[in-house]
This record gives sequence, C-alpha cells and structure tokens, in this order.
Amino acid sequence: MSAPKKLFIKTYGCQMNVYDSERMAEALGGEGYVETKSPDDADMILLNTCHIREKAAEKVYSELGRFKGLKADKPDLKIGVAGCVAQAEGEEIMRRQPLVDLVVGPQSYHRLPEMEAKARTGEKVLDTDFPEEDKFEKLKNRPKAKRGPTAFLTVQEGCDKFCAFCVVPYTRGAEVSRPADRILREARDLVERGVREITLLGQNVNAYHGAGPNGDMTLAQLIWELDKVDGLERIRFTTSHPNDMQDDLIEAHGTCAKLMPYLHLPVQAGSDKILKRMNRAHTAESYIRLIERIRAARPDILISGDFIVGFPEETEEDFQATMDLVEEVKYGTAYSFKYSTRPGTPAAERAQVDPAAADDRLQRLQALLTQQQREVQDSMVGREVGVLFEKAGRLPGQMVGKSDYLHAVHVAECDRNIGDLARVRIVSSGPNSLAGELIG
Ligand code: 5AD
Ligand code: SF4
Repeated sequence: MSAPKKLFIKTYGCQMNVYDSERMAEALGGEGYVETKSPDDADMILLNTCHIREKAAEKVYSELGRFKGLKADKPDLKIGVAGCVAQAEGEEIMRRQPLVDLVVGPQSYHRLPEMEAKARTGEKVLDTDFPEEDKFEKLKNRPKAKRGPTAFLTVQEGCDKFCAFCVVPYTRGAEVSRPADRILREARDLVERGVREITLLGQNVNAYHGAGPNGDMTLAQLIWELDKVDGLERIRFTTSHPNDMQDDLIEAHGTCAKLMPYLHLPVQAGSDKILKRMNRAHTAESYIRLIERIRAARPDILISGDFIVGFPEETEEDFQATMDLVEEVKYGTAYSFKYSTRPGTPAAERAQVDPAAADDRLQRLQALLTQQQREVQDSMVGREVGVLFEKAGRLPGQMVGKSDYLHAVHVAECDRNIGDLARVRIVSSGPNSLAGELIG
C-alpha cells in the first residue's frame, strides 16, 4: 500500500469553520489522506477562510504567497481555498494566485473528494454553488475514531437577517436547518466516540426549524431530544439572535438540566438609532427585557455578547447608549469589534466614523467588558460548579476543564480522567481561569 497522503488544514474564524474543517478532513480521509500539523510535508493544503472582518482576503493572499517555495519543491502539492473568502471571491483568487488548484465554497464541501481527484489531474477546480442538499449528510466518510469530550455539531447554516454590516447572508446563503434525525444520529455517534458535551452551531442557531417526525422542530424541541441521549451530559448552542429567542427555549434554560447556563446573545449596539440602521429589528429596551425573562427562567445564566463600535453614523451619544446597555445587562464574557467595511453590504456605502474615534470607543467598551467579565468570574469563588475535564494541567496531578459557565477551571490533586464530569468548589480566581477542588 502506498503511504497515506498528508493534508494540512488551516482554519480561520468561527466555530462553524472548525466544524467544517473536521468534516473536510474526514471526507478526504476517505480518499487516503491523514492530517499533518505542518504545511511542509503536506500533499494538500487547505485554507478554511473567514470573511467576517478586516482584510481577510489579504491575509489569505499573503498566506498563499508563503506556499510558493513549497510548491516549487513539490509540484504535486495541491493548494485549496475553502470558506467564506472562497465563496465571496473564488474566481478572483484563481486569477490572482496561480498557486491555487481548488476553490470550494462552504456549501460544496461534500464535493471535495471529486474536486481533489480532478485537481490531481492538473485541472483547476472551482465550486461555489449553493446546492439544495445537506452537505453534511453527503460527507459521511466518518472513521469511528475516539474523540475528546467536547464537540461542535452544525444544525443550521446561513442567515436571512441581513444585518447591514454582515457578509454572512451572502457567503453562507439563506438560512437552512438540518433535519433532526440526522443531528440526533450524529450526536449519538459522537457520544459513542467519547463526546460528553455538544455545542450546537448555527449562524442563527435559535432560528432552527429542522424537519422532525411531526413537522418542523424548534431548537428547544431538538435540545429536549438530545437530552434523552444517554452519555451526553452537556448541551450548548451558539450563536443566537434576540428576535428568535422563543419562549420554549427560554423555558428550557430553566428546566433542562443538560442545557448549560450560558447564552451568547449578541446585541451589537445600545442605540436604537444605530440598531435600526443596522437592520437588527430589535431595540435596546426589548433586548434588556428579553435578558430579564431569560434570567427569570435561569437566574445564574452567564450572558455573553457581541458588539460593534464605530458603525457608520455612530455618534458619541449613540456609543454612550451601548455603554449604558452593557452596564445594565452585565456580561460574563463578550466580543467587541471595530466596525469593518464589508464591500457589498448596505453599510459600506454610508458615512464612516473617524477611525481614531472608533478606536477610542472600542478601548472604553473593552475596558468595561473586561471589568464585568472579571467580576462575574470572581463571583464564582465559593460556589459549587460542574466541571468537565478536558486535559491534564501543567502541574503534576492537575486537571483542567470547563465549568457549566464555560470558565476554565484548574483542579489540583485531581484523580479524575479526561471526559469525567465532577462537582468542584471554586477556591480562587486568576487572570484567565479559576481554581477549584473536588467535592466529596
Ligand atoms: N464589522 C465588525 N464586526 C462585525 N461582525 C460581523 N460583521 C462585522 C463587521 N462588518 C461581528 C458581529 C457579529 C460577530 C460574529 O462579528 O458582532 O456578531
Ligand atoms: Fe450576520 Fe448574525 Fe446579522 Fe445574520 S444575524 S446578518 S449572521 S450578524
């Protein structure tokens, strides 16, 4: 038998891309590829790209340029670009960078084995269609390898919301939900392979409405089905839109023990004028009321968010409204970004905010969010939490895992194994993690 071919995948961007990269590796595994951690010994290099912010395409070109020498030494090396930059500017990539053999958009990964075979014959291959089929169902070359205790599972892709700053509706296409039976099958398979915690992924995951046995199911109904899977201990989901936060999902946060007390619910801004110009279809007030309802169902839930500062036409007063909203909500963790113009989106045409003002606002917002994050983390000291151990710590006998609230927790003198879920009392809070001790 010939030696296996080696595949190097570099993943940029969101968890959806991490999941997609795993699926691509599995699909090419069926074609005799094994993954390598270095591009130097690869027979195929795939860049799984992200287009959400800043100069993503430029990064891809400069990364590709670095492979020139490799390709000169090894003419059989195939180079592919996948992900949202591939979707947005596939033909341009092919034109500008002759090193590229293959361009594959996020909806075409199931065609990767055929595309790879074609590329091997020396052909240039590009596929950025939006086919009406479940790519993951077609990507079933799954070896039954053991897995770590946590996994992502994509349940929904694409978005119909068209926030004025965002490329996702253009790069990932319209909102599509996978049928529940396929998700459940995949979840059971993951659990058999050692997974204890599944994070359901979707650009708009709480808009999930996949086909079930009795018509379309909501995300909460799907979660309740997953709740029945023996051996699965924890369920999370991300990312949600405030307007899709249905009652049954709020209720599940209070009643489903496997559903973790953590919710990523981006608001983006606190000024109603800006929210309107962003096409968010909610107000600051409606968001705050929603958070109150969620906290009524699950008082200890940790709220996470995304923010954009310096959106076109944002004034200092608008920015203050974002700061006020943050003060009111109190975030346990958050991601904040300076607005980045995405060509082709409605906001790209509007009056841009002075970059220095945007930088200054971002700094102030991040200082507040960091302070809140710290306070929420520190407030865990003295509490008892569940911890799922993911790896050994740096010190002998130490284990590291994630709490129910997604904080990293170090436990010394820990006789538990990777994949074990334990009750832990938090004893101290450090810069980036908590320390705890096993109970009982
Ligand atoms: N500029 C800055 N941030 C953006 N995001 C999406 N598009 C842009 C953009 N053009 C942020 C939003 C979103 C997160 C995934 O990325 O906050 O929730
Ligand atoms: Fe982009 Fe999220 Fe808005 Fe959809 S809801 S357009 S993915 S920011």
